[in-house]
Amino acid sequence: MFRLQARHLLPIKIAFHLVALVPLAVLVWRVLNDQLGGDPVQYIIHYTGMGALNALVAVLLISPLAKHFKLGLLMQTRRLVGLYVFAYASLHILAFLSLDLLFAWQLLLSEIVKRPYILVGATAYLILLLLAITSFAKVKRAMGRRWQQLHNWVYLVALLAPIHFYWSVKSEVIEPSLYLGGFVILLMIRVNLRLLQRRFSFRTG
Ligand code: HEM
Repeated sequence: MFRLQARHLLPIKIAFHLVALVPLAVLVWRVLNDQLGGDPVQYIIHYTGMGALNALVAVLLISPLAKHFKLGLLMQTRRLVGLYVFAYASLHILAFLSLDLLFAWQLLLSEIVKRPYILVGATAYLILLLLAITSFAKVKRAMGRRWQQLHNWVYLVALLAPIHFYWSVKSEVIEPSLYLGGFVILLMIRVNLRLLQRRFSFRTG
């Protein structure tokens, strides 16, 4: 069976950076070449929101894949992928505030009343922000056991983000339903893994 070694980590990380950055380059190319269709603002909010959601799927898949295929080194890529979730979500919010709201802060409240799913997204984003600022090795060491407790909140993000997606769409519900179902399955896998780990007292990554 293929064994992941320390020398493989750098090429894997480079590949992950490329997978995350190429779609952004594509978006910039489409903006510059006027290829965003009839509603460019909607296009950019959709594109960056889906980027954040897909990166979240990837970050939640790393642990079960690493455990199943005994590729422990993969766990070291979780911070990198997690930070891309945060980066895409930040771009998504920036696009909403700048291109949709035109930074008219007085409109924010009426927008929230009109589209309450924004509050669900904002809660998910606040958690992501906390996870990003505590992701540094020094902070992790200083926080001790509390670090893992805080980072378990990613499971809440994994529920809030697809709910925000599902709630935001007006008609087509198949794709958001698939995401919501997929996230619930992923969460169940993670919870089962944790129960097994506790029962057999394996060490968690
Ligand atoms: C303060 C936080 C957030 C705000 C203000 C916000 C705002 C919005 C808005 C306004 C839309 C609807 C766009 C439209 O249909 O006109 C939307 C959709 C969406 N958001 Fe967010 N969002 C936030 C956080 C997040 C987070 C944390 C994620 C993912 C991790 C996310 C993922 C999505 C996705 C996937 C869609 C559906 C895109 C579409 O189909 O158009 N959002 N968001």
